[in-house]
Amino acid sequence: MTKVFAQGCAYLTALCALSRIKLPASEWTCVSHWSPACDVLMPSLLPSPQTELPPSYSPWMDIAHELPKLIASHQLRACIHQMPQLNTQHLRGREELHLAHLVLSFLTMGYVWQEGEEGTMRVLPRNLAVPFWEVSQALGLPPILTHADFVLANWRRKDPSRPLEIENLEPIISLPGGESLHGFILVTLLVEKAAVPGIKVGCCKSHSHLTPQVFRAHLSPSLHALLLLSLQATIQAIHALQHLDDELLIFLSGWRDNAAMPHGLLYEGVSEQPMAFSGGSAAQSSVLHAFDELLGIQHSQESTAFLHRMRDYMPPPHRAFIRDISRAPSLRQHILSSADLRLREAFNHCITALADFRSHHIAIVTKYIAVAKAKAGQEEACSTGKPPAALEAKGTGGSHIFIFLKSVRDSTREGLISA
Ligand code: HEM
Repeated sequence: MTKVFAQGCAYLTALCALSRIKLPASEWTCVSHWSPACDVLMPSLLPSPQTELPPSYSPWMDIAHELPKLIASHQLRACIHQMPQLNTQHLRGREELHLAHLVLSFLTMGYVWQEGEEGTMRVLPRNLAVPFWEVSQALGLPPILTHADFVLANWRRKDPSRPLEIENLEPIISLPGGESLHGFILVTLLVEKAAVPGIKVGCCKSHSHLTPQVFRAHLSPSLHALLLLSLQATIQAIHALQHLDDELLIFLSGWRDNAAMPHGLLYEGVSEQPMAFSGGSAAQSSVLHAFDELLGIQHSQESTAFLHRMRDYMPPPHRAFIRDISRAPSLRQHILSSADLRLREAFNHCITALADFRSHHIAIVTKYIAVAKAKAGQEEACSTGKPPAALEAKGTGGSHIFIFLKSVRDSTREGLISA
């Protein structure tokens, strides 16, 4: 009994340490990047992202703040052509670099897709391509909009004293899509927040040293919290996405495996050859990857290949975090070797939560595609108003949508441990 109590205390101490933001991996998750004022531990979001760059970068910021208007009036490309080529050496610290990446990635997506998928550009001009490349190299991110730009670093509180709730949040930089775009960004952000209890469990590397009693007392409630939070967040997502603008997703599309840009994009002044990168997708969020690793989910070879490729689009500390979880002692093996049925039940609840989350997501995507298709049928003549045709078969990240989404949902279900 004393031993169990001691182990329980050790586990609690570990959780307390974690709640003071002691996570594996460097910058993105380390203490210096986390605001102690944060009302909740946010393992993946950039805490209190910077919202302004030094005044010498105003040519970027001025365009970025007007992006939806400039795209709607078809003036963005002309503005970018007139933009001076700025020196990235004056950017100080990772916060400024992350904001610069966010801004330059939004400018790039607007530049490429301003005229819809039939009027794309093959060349990104030097004054945008060179600084974007340099900032990307400094951060270890690809030179394209990623989930980290679109969501993780793209938020601020309207009232800094109020909590992280949808009413109190707004994106720093926007694209066409108005309120529905904001809802899309912020709901995805809240899903990251909802994942916090589960991620905390993932940070505990010593499963194999814990007794079933300690698991029951601490792990099981966390798994249940995850179940509830995942479902709540997904329901919120469905409500927020009911009015999602069907023009939005084209601006997240990349130039790899995309029929609209079969040659990729030439980054002028960076490379003589065009380069191909996948677009922004929540498949690049570390959260589901972390849960899959924690719960020992085995996806099909093809889905795994896609998901692993998406890890290249994550901030390097996120990649390291997922790798750390995958190398930690297997929670699944520990539970399989335990005779405790309640422990299995708690584990299975978590698997079910994850599979339910993925089923809800399939419903959201189906709805989005159906709405976009119906609208495209009505507005066939309008080139910029058309949803990306490729999206019907391929996602923004370039996957074959429904085959992929159903496959990852089904393999999640296969992770259930039978009694
Ligand atoms: C209209 C809304 C949405 C659409 C159309 C959509 C579309 C897609 C597509 C096409 C994929 C396949 C990967 C790719 O090629 O990009 C995907 C993956 C994914 N999406 Fe969404 N998505 C939407 C909303 C959301 C929201 C709100 C979340 C919440 C975080 C989310 C989380 C994910 C995750 C985690 C994946 C990776 C697959 C998995 O692990 O199950 N999506 N999404």
